[in-house]
Amino acid sequence: MKFEGKSVIVTGASSGMGYEIALEFAKEGAVVIAVARRAERLEELAKSAEGFAGKILPYAGDISSQAVNEGMIEFALKECGKLDILVNNAGVLDEFKPIGEVTNELWDKVMAVNITGPMYAIRKAIQVMETQEDGGNIVNIASIGGICGCRAGAAYTTSKHALVGLTKNTAYMYAKKKIRCNVICPGGVETEVMNGQQMSQMGIERVMSGLDSTLPQGKPKDIASTVLFLASENAAFMNGAVIVIDGGVSCN
Ligand SMILES: NC(=O)c1ccc[n+]([C@@H]2O[C@H](COP(=O)([O-])OP(=O)(O)OC[C@H]3O[C@@H](n4cnc5c(N)ncnc54)[C@H](O)[C@@H]3O)[C@@H](O)[C@H]2O)c1
Repeated sequence: MKFEGKSVIVTGASSGMGYEIALEFAKEGAVVIAVARRAERLEELAKSAEGFAGKILPYAGDISSQAVNEGMIEFALKECGKLDILVNNAGVLDEFKPIGEVTNELWDKVMAVNITGPMYAIRKAIQVMETQEDGGNIVNIASIGGICGCRAGAAYTTSKHALVGLTKNTAYMYAKKKIRCNVICPGGVETEVMNGQQMSQMGIERVMSGLDSTLPQGKPKDIASTVLFLASENAAFMNGAVIVIDGGVSCN
């Protein structure tokens, strides 16, 4: 029970990695606030955790909203009296569009979910964690698109690079306050994120060029295990780390 009594928020918990991350924390005894738009999916998730050492409490809302980000943290404080761990996992793709094809609407949507939402959450979480004796722990989920130039379209690549930058800045600024902030950069993982993506022809060809498309994809569990490690005392000296988990694809 590594996380017994810990108060954890996981955004984007209705599917994919977020779903798995929430379950793994609950197995380890945490009280998990699971955030996403689809309330019924969150209810299902909470049911799946029945009988676990910890529990999952749904909190439905759109993560691009400041009110939802601040509301989920207030909810954690009301339920647990503290916030130990924040996992900013929610994210959306961008149709793999190069900048010449990006509309204002697409840009604004991707930025709102992938970087402005996490900024609202991190800002509020820091204000809470600074006052806690044990500080706190933040894990962000970016992408190899956050460190490589062409693993998605222009908007997604920009938003995930920004999340890597915000992670490093936060890590250093609050290093003396017992607050750690790290970021995971996954490669291809089998989740719903690609569903319904209309690929820009020019974008997808460039993203895939030189890559072996037959290399195996990861599973949500591969990412969840690293999130729990980073949030644990085993990673006490890890702060501002950028962890690539992609089966080696970005070594090419
Ligand atoms: N799957 C991959 O190959 C891959 C690779 C690199 C990075 N990522 C990143 O990993 C994270 C998790 O993605 P996933 O692969 O599990 O995808 P997913 O689509 O299965 O999950 C994304 C989650 O974010 C939630 N979400 C999206 N927009 C939201 C909004 N406006 N408000 C609230 N919740 C919202 C979705 O409901 C879902 O719960 C994302 O940040 C994604 O960019 C995924």
